Amino acid sequence: MEAGVTQAGVTQAGVTTEPTATPDVLAELAALRAQVALLSAKDEIADLVTTYARACDVGNDPVLLRPLFTDDATWHCKGFGTFTGGDGCALGLKAVAGEKIWWSLHNMISVQITLDPSGEEATGFWYLWEAATLPDEHTGEATAHWIGGTYDARFRKVDGKWRFSKIELKLNMSTPIAQGWVKKRWPDGTRKQPYFVNLKPGETYYWCKCGKSATQPFCDGSHQSGKVEPVSFSVEEGGLQAVCGCRYSKTKPLCDGSHLNLKYDWSLLGKTGPDDAA
Ligand code: FES
Repeated sequence: MEAGVTQAGVTQAGVTTEPTATPDVLAELAALRAQVALLSAKDEIADLVTTYARACDVGNDPVLLRPLFTDDATWHCKGFGTFTGGDGCALGLKAVAGEKIWWSLHNMISVQITLDPSGEEATGFWYLWEAATLPDEHTGEATAHWIGGTYDARFRKVDGKWRFSKIELKLNMSTPIAQGWVKKRWPDGTRKQPYFVNLKPGETYYWCKCGKSATQPFCDGSHQSGKVEPVSFSVEEGGLQAVCGCRYSKTKPLCDGSHLNLKYDWSLLGKTGPDDAA
C-alpha cells in the first residue's frame, strides 16, 4: 500500500471511502502549486517582453504598445528622456520611432525575472542587442547601427494580466555598423542632440552655455567675450551621462529629451489629448 495515502476501497460494511492526503502530501501539493504559479508568471512576463519587442519592431506601434503598460507606467532612457503614463509611454515611443529610429530589430536576451513575495509585482533585467536604421547625426542619411544596452523593468499584474509599470533602458552603445564601437561608440553630440560622456561622481564639470566652446559640451573659456557664464555641475552616479547639446533641456546640463521635440499624436489611441478618458 502506498505511503501517505489511506486505502481507498470498500469497507467490511461495503462503504467506499475517498483517499485522504496526508499533511506531507498536502504540503508537497501546495509547494508544487506555488512552483507552477511562479513558473507560469515568469513565462507570462517573458512573453510580455517579447510582445514589447515585436511592437517596437513595427515602428513602436502605440496600439500594440499601450496595453503592455500600466496606467501609471514610466519609460526612461538617457538621451531620449522620460515618458509617463501608459498613454505617454506608447505615444512617446511612437514619436521616437518617427524621429530617431527608422527601422529596428530588437533582440531581448537572457531575461531574468524575480517575483515579489506578493506574486502581484515583479522586477526584470535583460540585454538589448538591436540592429537599427538611424539618421546620421550630421547628414541625416539613413545609417545602419548596432544598439546595445540593458533593460531594468518593473511589472505589475492588473486585471489578471502582467504589464510594465516601469522600464529603464540603459544604453551602452549606439554605433554605425560601418565604423564599429571601437572607433565610434556613440553618435557625436551636436546642437541637435546630446553628448554621451562618462562622468566621474563628485567631480566638478563646467557645461558650455554660450555654445562657443571648442571642447563641447564643456567650457573652454570662449565665453569670456560674452555675458553667458558656464554652468558648473557634478553627478552623484558616475558613468554614462547624456549632456545637453541643444540647450533646450529643462534639466540642464543633462539632456531630458527636449532635443527630440516629440509630438504626441493622441488620435493614434483614439483620443484627443491627455485628459481624454476614452
Ligand atoms: S540635447 Fe537633449 S535636451 Fe538638449
